[in-house]
Amino acid sequence: MKKLWGGRFTKSAEEWVDEFGASISFDQELVLEDIEGSLAHVKMQGECGILSQEDVTAISNGLLTLKERAENGELQFSVKMEDIHLNLESMLIDEIGPVGGKLHTARSRNDQVATDMHLYLRNRTKEVINLINELQTALLNKAKDNVETILPGYTHLQRAQPISFAHHLLAYFWMLERDKERFTESFKRINKSPLGAGALAGTTFPIKRELSAEYLGFSSIYENSLDAVSDRDFILEFLSNSSMMMMHLSRLAEETILWCSQEFQFVELDDAFSTGSSIMPQKKNPDMAELIRGKTGRVYGNLFGLLTVLKGLPLAYNKDMQEDKEGMFDTVKTITGSLKIFAGMISTMKVRTDVMERAVKSDFSNATELADYLASKGLPFREAHEVVGQLVLTCINQGCYLADLSMDQFKEANALFEDDIYVVLQPYEAVKRRNSAGGTGFAQVQAAIVKAESLLK
Ligand code: ARG
Repeated sequence: MKKLWGGRFTKSAEEWVDEFGASISFDQELVLEDIEGSLAHVKMQGECGILSQEDVTAISNGLLTLKERAENGELQFSVKMEDIHLNLESMLIDEIGPVGGKLHTARSRNDQVATDMHLYLRNRTKEVINLINELQTALLNKAKDNVETILPGYTHLQRAQPISFAHHLLAYFWMLERDKERFTESFKRINKSPLGAGALAGTTFPIKRELSAEYLGFSSIYENSLDAVSDRDFILEFLSNSSMMMMHLSRLAEETILWCSQEFQFVELDDAFSTGSSIMPQKKNPDMAELIRGKTGRVYGNLFGLLTVLKGLPLAYNKDMQEDKEGMFDTVKTITGSLKIFAGMISTMKVRTDVMERAVKSDFSNATELADYLASKGLPFREAHEVVGQLVLTCINQGCYLADLSMDQFKEANALFEDDIYVVLQPYEAVKRRNSAGGTGFAQVQAAIVKAESLLK
């Protein structure tokens, strides 16, 4: 098979060399984007008088035929034709004859591949944003059911203060909201057209880049042809936004894994999102959450892989840049899969309110309430902290909790203590009274739910 660029060559490379250089095994993922870009390019060629309307019609029809075959999975790609661009061009020529060779006038594979990548990420970014919305909806719905579900909040993985489970879930809602903002914000840099930059320097043909950009729905064009074909920042941004989002999912995965352990038993995952062990019959493992935590590593890896590929590349195009694709495809697949799984896992998860409640009743997570109590009666907080610290120590020595101490013991520790202290010590009260902005108080959580809901609309 003769290469489309074979003119100046006297011998062809051996098959295994071709195979090493080819990208068709993976860049066939761009088939529809490549055809879409070509359709816009040929329309612009006609509009600018570079091709006759007759040629434009022939080429467009040929491309539409290829598109239909692509959608039906009927295209047979060949390693000999190196990549998706040359495969499609040679198929077009096979389909409509030599006129198909006019499509590449005033274009290079360099601006073509960049265009494909912009189109690809534009579609995927929209999909990712929708999937984030779905996971946020799942978290929000679970939160709505659990405003008054109280569990220990932790710092250093030590019981700290009682909180509302809804508040805990909503923390992830807001992380995802920032992730969504980042993907949305980077969209404007994805939605830029490199088409018409040519190989690197522009073209002698009277093209109108604004036209092909408009046909493709891009909101602007790259200002500089060298930058247009060399820029992969928009992919790096996508990989970086994905990495940060996966870090959030991984933290939630870790908490989910802890929560469904025998030690916590705060939640139970649905059977549909759990797996068993091939040897231990009692096991129900949170594999999906573990996998999401694990897959975060490859998403980070894809970001660092591409950063490293680009570092030190001279302008303009270099074949190194073909390495931008597999990591990007892999990241798209990994994050869309993870978001879908997580939404399902959260919405089907059973919350063990009884276990959570028992947990906050048998710990010292209400110790701050006592210190606050004394401080609100005028004792300097630092002294109040000391008094309560002593009481905790007394409890530890007696093998009881703060609410088990007698009124005499409280009075002995500090005369400011009154009978109402037993109400203050109740976890429900402790949560309810944390009504500062963004706190875990029920009124705050309700307000956050209303706000979150309005953001999803
Ligand atoms: N397959 C190539 C890539 O993905 C397309 C661009 C090739 N351009 C070139 N001048 N060799 O990067």
